[in-house]
Parts: sequence; C-alpha cells; structure tokens
Amino acid sequence: MDSFTTTAQRSTEVAAAVAAHPGRFRVLTGERPTGALHLGHYFGTIRERVRLQRAGVETFLVLADYQVITDRDTTANVRDNVYGAVLDYLAAGIDPERTTIFTHSSIPALNQLLLPFLSLVTEAELHRNPTVKSEFEASGRALSGLLLTYPVHQAADILFCKGNLVPVGKDNLPHVEMTRVIARRFNERYGAIFPVPDALITATPEVPGLDGRKMSKSYGNAISLSMTADETVAAIRRTRTDPDRRITFDPERRPGVSALLTTAGLCLDEAPEEVADRIGDGGSSALKAVTATAVNEFLSPLRERRRELATDDELVQSVLARGNEHARAIADTTLAEVREAMGTVY
Ligand code: TRP
Repeated sequence: MDSFTTTAQRSTEVAAAVAAHPGRFRVLTGERPTGALHLGHYFGTIRERVRLQRAGVETFLVLADYQVITDRDTTANVRDNVYGAVLDYLAAGIDPERTTIFTHSSIPALNQLLLPFLSLVTEAELHRNPTVKSEFEASGRALSGLLLTYPVHQAADILFCKGNLVPVGKDNLPHVEMTRVIARRFNERYGAIFPVPDALITATPEVPGLDGRKMSKSYGNAISLSMTADETVAAIRRTRTDPDRRITFDPERRPGVSALLTTAGLCLDEAPEEVADRIGDGGSSALKAVTATAVNEFLSPLRERRRELATDDELVQSVLARGNEHARAIADTTLAEVREAMGTVY
C-alpha cells in the first residue's frame, strides 16, 4: 500500500472520529494569498472548513503571507489577496465568531517556533520533500532558503495552536507528515508539548482547471469565486474543447471537455457522466452553456453575500485584528511552554 492510500484510509477513520467527538479536535489550515480564491479552493477545502466549523470543531485559518515569497520575489498584491480571501471565506459561510482567521506574519511567537523546529530536521529530509521539489522546478529560479524550509514553517503554523487536524489537498500531505515528525521529535527531546496532527484529505482533493490541468491561479485556468457572472461565461468560453459533437467524459483524451463536465457536475451535485448524457450530441457550445449556468447559479448566493460584505469598509480589518489578537495570545502561551521545556527562560 502506498503512503497516500494509508493516509487516505487514516483520513476516513479520522473523519468518523470528528463526527463523533468534534470537541476533541482543533483544526488549523489555510492558504498562500497569491491570488483570488477559486472553485478548486471551494470544493477542495473551503466547503469542508465550513462543515467542520458547523459541526462544532474549533478552527484556525492562516493566510500564509510569508509563504508568498517562497518561489517569487514580490509581495505585490498580498494585502489585496488577503482582504479578498477574508471576504471569500465570510461569503462562503466561515463565521469569524467561531473561526480564527489570521496572517502568520502578524504572530511573532509563531515564527520563533521555526528556530527550534529547524534543528529537528536534516537538510536531506528537506531536500526530499516532493512538493518542495516540484515547486522549485516550476519556479525556474534558484532554490531559496525559505522555499526549502517552508514545510517546517508550516509545522509552526499548525503546532503553535496545537492543531491536531489539518484538512488539506494531496499536495500538502508531505508537509503534514513533516509536522508529525517534528512534533514527535520535539516531544521526545524536550517533553510532551505538541499533538501529532492528522491530515484530513478533503472529498474533492483536485478540481480540474478549464484546460484539464489542476485548477491553479498560476495556470490562468481558474474560475474565481469573486468573478462576475459575465466573466465566468467568458472564462468558460475560452476553454479549449474539440469538434466532436458527442459529449463524453474522458479526462485522458478530452481534458477540456472533461474539465467542464467535472465543474458542472460539482456545481450540480451530479456525476460528470450524467451531465454528459444530458448534453448528448449538443456539442461544445451546449456544454459550455450548461457549465456556465451551473457555475453561476451555484455561486450566485455566495457572490451576492460577498458583494454585501464588501460594502462594509471596516469589516475585513476588524476580522483580521480580532483573529490576529487571538492567535497571538495562543502563540505566546505555546512559545512560553516551549522555552520552559527547553530551559531557555531567563
Ligand atoms: N501550503 C498551503 C497551500 O499551499 C498553505 C498553508 C500554509 C497551510 N500553512 C498551512 C495549509 C498550514 C495547512 C496548514 O495552500
């Protein structure tokens, strides 16, 4: 059995435990504010976070602003992206009374945990991380120290609040694995302080973008939550399909057609094959029309709420101020425990 299968199985057991005892879990998850949140985020993780929050699980969401500069040298737009993400979260049903939304650059004690944590991993282990390797290759740049060590930073994101459950997509599993290693090693060396967190792989780990590749801001194949209905129609129209009028679900040979079917299926809560059968011989234009309508109808309540929330100039600022204050208090307590355990209190 490969490690993904093992983790997926464990993830199913964990999901059952969460349903039975929501109060035993503390969720920490989040994302890099590198652009607008899109349908991939929504079906991949946001929907799951709202579900966990509603089930009564205490939830922390990090907007990982230092992770923006792991593979690029600009922080341009970070602030706009952070603000946009907060609006997307709130519009999707994240309740700031129950979920702590914070930016990790605002939490000094969280970042200080990076130093003892770095001492617990070897350079070889860092170089072996498959996600770091592929991000490094995709960046086309020299490997920065921050890119190499960001999974350790991510361990600090998770462990500062003693998060024990981390809902993530497949590409973040190596980081949760590294967090588990760091928690175990810290506890062995200095005394039991940290939980060993579990990953929770979400039901739709990968949503295809409009070209059939993974949906990603950087591929320009994403439908963002904040697009207007017209922009959504235009983005879907641009999808490369093929002249075969018979619409079939065949991700290998028909990536564009199949990505549209998957997208429509997710929004309609139907299998992509069912959507294909309904369109039959209607060709690409019918497929695109069905998909655009499905997406726009699905997102319409969220977009409506988002528009209303955006009229309140102070809202995002106050949500972040409160979230950061709460996260800072927790990080200070954890760092104090860590320093006590390490014997570095003077
Ligand atoms: N690396 C995650 C992403 O690519 C974002 C992230 C930062 C994160 N810190 C985290 C996810 C801690 C889970 C837990 O989206």
